[in-house]
Amino acid sequence: MKRYKLFINGEFAEGHSGKFLPVYDPSTESVIAEVPDGDESDVNRAVAAARAAFDSGPWSQSTAQERGRILFRLAERIRKETPQLAELESRNSGKPIVEAEYDLGDAATCFEYYAGMATKVVGHVNPVPDNALSLSLKEPVGVAGQIIPWNYPLLMAAWKLAPAIAAGATCVLKPAEQTPLTVLEFASYLNEAGLPPGVVNIITGLGETTGAPLVRHPDVNKIAFTGSAAVGKAIVKAAADTVKRVTLELGGKSPNIFFADADFEAAIDGALFGVFINQGEVCSAGSRILVEKSIYSKFVEAMAAKAKTIKLGAPLERETKMGPLVSKEQYDRVRSYIDVGKGEAKLASGGSTRPAAFTKGYYVEPTIFYDVDNSARISREEIFGPVATVIPFKDEADAIKIANDSPYGLAAAVWSRDIFRVFRAVKALRAGIVWVNHMQPTYVEAPWGGFKQSGFGRELGPWGIEEYLETKQVHINLNEQPIGWY
Ligand code: NAI
Ligand code: MG
Repeated sequence: MKRYKLFINGEFAEGHSGKFLPVYDPSTESVIAEVPDGDESDVNRAVAAARAAFDSGPWSQSTAQERGRILFRLAERIRKETPQLAELESRNSGKPIVEAEYDLGDAATCFEYYAGMATKVVGHVNPVPDNALSLSLKEPVGVAGQIIPWNYPLLMAAWKLAPAIAAGATCVLKPAEQTPLTVLEFASYLNEAGLPPGVVNIITGLGETTGAPLVRHPDVNKIAFTGSAAVGKAIVKAAADTVKRVTLELGGKSPNIFFADADFEAAIDGALFGVFINQGEVCSAGSRILVEKSIYSKFVEAMAAKAKTIKLGAPLERETKMGPLVSKEQYDRVRSYIDVGKGEAKLASGGSTRPAAFTKGYYVEPTIFYDVDNSARISREEIFGPVATVIPFKDEADAIKIANDSPYGLAAAVWSRDIFRVFRAVKALRAGIVWVNHMQPTYVEAPWGGFKQSGFGRELGPWGIEEYLETKQVHINLNEQPIGWY
């Protein structure tokens, strides 16, 4: 069993406490590795390294071209190591190996995208009405604290690290305690890729003991967080004391809306894919399925029938379409929501008992509730597992009203062949991402982030690097005379 170390200032380092956290394979419930149980003193060491790398040393003098080349090397290395990394990701998170391979491809693409973008960060000349040159320059934000979740471990690290490196910032990244392994493997590529010590530091540990001190730290300039709404709210409050820049991606309860004129087969497929991909452990999961009344019964029936054919299995088997949930904690949480659902709605498929085929592992069958109101707990609260709530609507206005009646606003999808209706819906939906006749496709070129309590700030694309930049106004007076006021 491998015992990992922290990565601080370009070196693997022991944790201060000397204690370790177990890391599990959720399909066997057994421990597969150990990582340091980080504490505040580890955070302080990592932040000091990131601060020094930002303030002085080679990184502070690096050119955008150099940063781009480093990012290209990291992308290439991820592609080369994909078989090993995907296996580790799949074992540790429970996600099907085929999905893990996709995720790693996306992680490499993210590094490539920001490799190219490093040299495209430009300032402006501002047309001020004086004999002066007014410039706005883009500069890196400083030290970024990055806290990520367990559902897409290395991909979430890529979304955070790649734009920060391209911008010239330095990073202290804290992976989720459940899934730190691929990020720690990735740390071993950094020196070889030419990244100077201290630019990227990786701290493992629990949220309270490593995440919270990172958020409080006065030398950290920005926090980028993806995770639960509860922790996101605590981070905003804690970051206020030092006026840190904060970006948050907090998941949601995204509506997937089906009008009667949508292609029926594509609709059923899209409803299932939207909510069950990655075991439903997806921030943008289409967990509220809104269906026009005239097709509602047929829709629920077809969805349930097809859900029963989804292949649950060991994550490393290539035919597996759904693995176990990530942890005992998440398993218990999801099953308790299913029990809540049984009191609020009718069950069309699945349920909270472990499927008979498995004696071990945090497996939950694709679960579909119907005849349920949008005010039910299972319609309002993020479950983050394979649990769908199918809600009927009577017309377009009703659909939009139900869709927007949520504290969240990360994503939404609309299925219809009527382009006029589609456009009305696109405008009316209060969500950061709207898909039409599809759900979940995600591209590094396009902005990612939510409205309302799904967070603020945008990742990916040019928006993603902007969050790691400050804007500096420079005024160069071209008059040689005194100002002449006094
Ligand atoms: P969480 O929000 O507690 O954990 C996410 C990350 O934040 C982890 O790295 C964790 O160590 C860190 N963290 C926890 N407490 C912290 C604190 N006080 N200060 C700083 N960092 C802290 O999420 P958890 O407990 O793993 O999952 C609970 C629920 O959160 C899920 O059921 C789901 O609803 C939601 N969630 C949403 C995600 C998204 O993609 N938006 C991802 C993961 C969870
Ligand atoms: Mg938590």
